[in-house]
Amino acid sequence: MRKKVTTAIFPVAGLGTRFLPATKSIPKEIMTLVDRPLIQYAIDEARAAGITEFIFVTSRGKGALEDYFDHSPQLEDTLRQKGKDELLGKLLDTNMDSGAIAYVRQHKALGLGHAVWCARRLLASDEPFAVMLPDDVIASDTPCLQQMVEAHAETGGNMVAAMEVPDDKVSSYGVLDIKDDMGSVVSVKGMVEKPPLDQAPSNLAVIGRYILTPETMSHLDQMKTGAGGEIQLTDAIAAEINRSENVYGYRFKGQRFDCGSKAGFLQATVAFGLARDDLREEFQNYLSDMMPVRSAAQ
Ligand code: G1P
Repeated sequence: MRKKVTTAIFPVAGLGTRFLPATKSIPKEIMTLVDRPLIQYAIDEARAAGITEFIFVTSRGKGALEDYFDHSPQLEDTLRQKGKDELLGKLLDTNMDSGAIAYVRQHKALGLGHAVWCARRLLASDEPFAVMLPDDVIASDTPCLQQMVEAHAETGGNMVAAMEVPDDKVSSYGVLDIKDDMGSVVSVKGMVEKPPLDQAPSNLAVIGRYILTPETMSHLDQMKTGAGGEIQLTDAIAAEINRSENVYGYRFKGQRFDCGSKAGFLQATVAFGLARDDLREEFQNYLSDMMPVRSAAQ
């Protein structure tokens, strides 16, 4: 029997400078898509995939994240007394079991690989674990991590979410060198972080969902710096490919939004707004009224 994936690491230590001045006093992960903070989308996706242990790798100034996941007895009582059951339900849905979330600090911004490594002592030594980057928001019928957990039950090893990207975007991602293309699942013979287009092994890019083994984590002990002078998660996975050839890419079904960029965040806001029954009609009318205005302005 393969071990189940029950723990997820959420690297949330980044400064979010692309969203300044908003991120001057609030963590990027608290910024809201419609009415839920980015981090809530990642947590809901993790829960749907069977994750019960949540590790946040944070940094100075991320206190609002911890508060967000705390229970709010006063607010709950007020809503209860006023009979606002729907709102109360929404609030209670965000509550986490006591002890389900652990926080570790990344003391220096040394890269994604280093952030993940900071969580190493909180992991079981013989179980795979997930890593989720909350900037990557994925709209799909079956939540992306759940799709991966199901595929991983067949393959074992390490698995990264993957998606084809256009040539001009390749150098913004970790890129897979494909050994065997089986459709949704590809086996991988190499992985490069942010390669220039002419050195990219393919257009199949890594998106921020990973299922990794303890062996892959152990490669991070070496603290080797890679692309951009940072300790890269991609390099640890590439080292594991060399050791075990046990790494797969998974072409998930769904639409991914890069909420680490302003344009991506706005696109996600429109898409998630239109997906909401309570907003669709009014929002759609607004957007269709606005289109001719925009064309005229151009
Ligand atoms: C990180 C990873 C990269 C991956 C990307 C997905 O890069 O290092 O391999 O393709 O996330 O969003 P970042 O966007 O944090 O620079």
